[in-house]
Amino acid sequence: MRMYDLINKKKSGLSLTKEEITFIVNGFTSGEIPDYQMSAFLMAVCLKGMNKEETIAMTLAMAKSGDMLDLSAIEGVKVDKHSTGGVGDKTSLVLSPMVASLGVPVAKMSGRGLGHTGGTIDKLESFPGFSTAIPTDKFFDNVNKMKLAIVGQTANLAPADKKIYALRDVTATVDNISLIASSIMSKKIASGAEVIVLDVKTGSGAFMKTLDDSIALAEAMVEIGNGVGRETYAVITDMNQPLGRAVGNSIEVAEAIETLQGHGPEDLLDVSLTLGSYMLYGAKKADSVEKAREMLTKTIEDGSALNKLAEFVRAQGGDDSAVFDTNVFPKATIIEEVCADRDGYVTKIVTDEIGMTSLVLGGGRETKDSIIDLSVGLRIQKKLGDQVKKGDALATLYANDADKMKAAKERYLSAYTIEPVKPEPTKHIYGIVTKEGL
Ligand code: URA
Repeated sequence: MRMYDLINKKKSGLSLTKEEITFIVNGFTSGEIPDYQMSAFLMAVCLKGMNKEETIAMTLAMAKSGDMLDLSAIEGVKVDKHSTGGVGDKTSLVLSPMVASLGVPVAKMSGRGLGHTGGTIDKLESFPGFSTAIPTDKFFDNVNKMKLAIVGQTANLAPADKKIYALRDVTATVDNISLIASSIMSKKIASGAEVIVLDVKTGSGAFMKTLDDSIALAEAMVEIGNGVGRETYAVITDMNQPLGRAVGNSIEVAEAIETLQGHGPEDLLDVSLTLGSYMLYGAKKADSVEKAREMLTKTIEDGSALNKLAEFVRAQGGDDSAVFDTNVFPKATIIEEVCADRDGYVTKIVTDEIGMTSLVLGGGRETKDSIIDLSVGLRIQKKLGDQVKKGDALATLYANDADKMKAAKERYLSAYTIEPVKPEPTKHIYGIVTKEGL
């Protein structure tokens, strides 16, 4: 096989075989295929597309390029949830203890935050002493004993994807649905879960800004997952404003705890219950998603999800006192409000700018080596559709540095559009994609 011929074939709009795709992925990963040929191939994919078989072949070749995690030492159906990334997205912290308290194992490898989105691993470090780097045997042991462990990614998952993504990033070849879907799914498939529930965010704070693109991505990922024997569901959720009201690190953990205590924001609860329902249903713990939702709701009412969170925090070396009193989390020293500069209704929020406000305060990472301040962040007071009067607080900001506070306030205000006419109500969930379709 010659890479030149395969580039030419794709350029002509023809489909490649599984062997040809595998040759390309393996050859590029090993360094035999140079960047310039891979770039030409990726551009041809962007222009001519890939069919279902090609996309699955690419996903599997990338998944198999590194460690394929074997979770067989964990008893029960292993279920994973993955979000395409959003602002204020603390659903993992809410749904993992709920699902685990019902006996379904959650063995999660999570990431750190980068840019305008946060990461579960950073947030969990808000619990003093909490370790996100426990040894593999303890990880398995914890999941078997109490059904929940969350660690940072240490395994060498899908290195081919890492190398291909770095090239896509500089050759304007990121925005192709087949390439994005195979990139995300290669890592999920290598992580070993049998059931995968995807939270595909849509809107101004999401990777996919339009609903049509989000549906196409969800459909492509569900097709790949089910095509390789992993039961896969995708929930398309709103990211035209942050989820819940808290954005930052310990402030988001506090909001997740409040939700498990039964007084969290309605959108966060709804999205967490919906994703969790598909996790339970996929694990055959409930015979319908409606029944699964009832079971999950009960874990909040009877306190079992909150107790599971405390048990999990202790098992990973953390101080669980904040689970019962969130005032224990360290506080930022400067607290100020961002106020509306006119009367009207909040009609638009540029959500990635809200994420950037938290980053400017010190709560996010500009580069992967940045040190983050877990105590800073913001609490949103006015969301889409809310009526405001000039001078009303739109949000409360928490900082430890006056210059950062000043820059963050300007950034926050510029993310809001306030207009005289009340907008249409927003949805939390736009649709669910299963193997039967949307
Ligand atoms: N996230 C990924 O992991 N891969 C992509 O291609 C895009 C977003």
